Amino acid sequence: MTGRPVIPVTTGKIKLKEQLMPIFFQQQITPATRLGIWKIEETESFFRDNVPHHRDVTHPHKRLQHLAGRFLLQFLYPAFPYDLIHLAETRKPYLPSEEYHFSISHCGDYAAAIVSRETRAGIDVEIPVEKVAKIRHKFLSDTEIGLFGVGEEQPEDLHLLTILWSAKEAVYKWYGNGKVDFSEQIRLLSINREQHSIDCHFTKTGTDLQIRYGTFDNLVLAWVTG
Ligand SMILES: CC(C)(COP(=O)(O)OP(=O)(O)OC[C@H]1O[C@@H](n2cnc3c(N)ncnc32)[C@H](O)[C@@H]1OP(=O)(O)O)[C@@H](O)C(=O)NCCC(=O)NCCS
Repeated sequence: MTGRPVIPVTTGKIKLKEQLMPIFFQQQITPATRLGIWKIEETESFFRDNVPHHRDVTHPHKRLQHLAGRFLLQFLYPAFPYDLIHLAETRKPYLPSEEYHFSISHCGDYAAAIVSRETRAGIDVEIPVEKVAKIRHKFLSDTEIGLFGVGEEQPEDLHLLTILWSAKEAVYKWYGNGKVDFSEQIRLLSINREQHSIDCHFTKTGTDLQIRYGTFDNLVLAWVTG
């Protein structure tokens, strides 16, 4: 892990319905915002017992991921009202009352969620894959490619490219209204590797955002609030 930004990890077991369950990472970001990553080791029936409402997903593993993401919402805030979740045309799940803002992501055997009582939030989790290098010109502007040193002529840094991709996906979800030109409208301005943060300007709403990111072995996580 040397040379790579790592955020503090809280691992352990939590007691849930008389069973010991694995929580991979949990962080209270502010007094009103919580984030969690769940390592999926349960069967579908476990989640079905604990998640009352969910949409139909055909693929079995995708269904497991979907259920685990929903499960995390109440894990982070036990009073989270599952039955009040609506689905926007953009497929963003939300609570019309805005009692809680939340965002969900899943990848492989992991599900991640961020839930806030006070502010919009977006989260994304990724496992670095070669494809991110092939599509760099789709989600990064030439300015960003130069700024972060991730051009084809440079030694390939899949890890950094994945952080940049994940950062933009988190902003896309934070926005939630669909139709975003990633390279033009989500502008990444600078990265602070000590604080694990990326400054960003989102031109569609004229908002300055600070994206936070972290890595856990091969897993990249990015989230944004504000
Ligand atoms: C919707 C999208 C963000 C999902 O990302 P993904 O990496 O495929 O999947 P993730 O597991 O990270 O996220 C899925 C979750 O995001 C949430 N989500 C879906 N659509 C969303 C939206 N429009 N806004 C916010 N959140 C959304 C849902 O909670 C979903 O999980 P669920 O259906 O189980 O509840 C992605 O498919 C997408 O459309 N990205 C934008 C693509 C784009 O415009 N690219 C242009 C540059 S190349």
